Amino acid sequence: MNTNTETKPYPRHIAIILDGNGRFAKKHGLLRQQGHKAGADNVEAVGDLFIEKGIPYMTVYAFSTENWKRSEDEVSYLMALMKRYLTKNKVDALRKGIRIRVIGDRSRLSRDLQELIVSMEEDTKDMKNLNLTFAINYGGRDEIRRAVSKMISDGVKADQVDEALISSYLDTSDLPDPDLLIRTSGEERISNFLLWQIAYAEMYFTDKLWPEFDEAELDQALASFQKRDRRFGGRKEE
Ligand code: FPP
Repeated sequence: MNTNTETKPYPRHIAIILDGNGRFAKKHGLLRQQGHKAGADNVEAVGDLFIEKGIPYMTVYAFSTENWKRSEDEVSYLMALMKRYLTKNKVDALRKGIRIRVIGDRSRLSRDLQELIVSMEEDTKDMKNLNLTFAINYGGRDEIRRAVSKMISDGVKADQVDEALISSYLDTSDLPDPDLLIRTSGEERISNFLLWQIAYAEMYFTDKLWPEFDEAELDQALASFQKRDRRFGGRKEE
């Protein structure tokens, strides 16, 4: 039995599958788009909580490689929401010390969204309070496919391939692996998010819909994380 009662550290990196915006809208008699707007606002609110609590890395699943299958209206609304975020939030990001990055395959995004991403990443690159990463047109399998393809075109030899090299070819090469993965809205799936990087992450699932995920919820997730006995495949001495 683990009798260690000393407080364990918070996770350094939390990845979030922010699910339930549509159901939140339905529950409150709103349009789906309004649910997404509430979801985007909550990314900002939860980011502030990360800064307050000293958790330096937050990575959110904003748009998956599968989300293109949604209606044209919904896809264009989500794209517009991301554009608006990247246009309006630069001053706030600089004031709060937030470094913003984007992972995923940008080549399918519109030219103006790609330019906004480059400019936000460049202008916030020295910020240190929070590393906020948006996964946009992101799929874990697609990320691994792109990494393998690049390794081959770089002429990497079979005996040079080790785990560190693979990690260095992923979109997340300059981020630590997540310690905790949170998914809201009662679904208990990974949905192609950070497949390589979550090898040893703890999982936390809550029934709360993403726009309802607040400080009390985050505290519960953190308390649950602190109770876990992380072994990374090894065995702790009793
Ligand atoms: C899941 O809810 C949410 C998404 C697929 C997209 C979330 C994206 C944003 C909120 C925008 C990105 C954030 C910023 C800050 C620009 P769902 O639609 O699957 O919900 P449902 O399962 O209840 O229908």
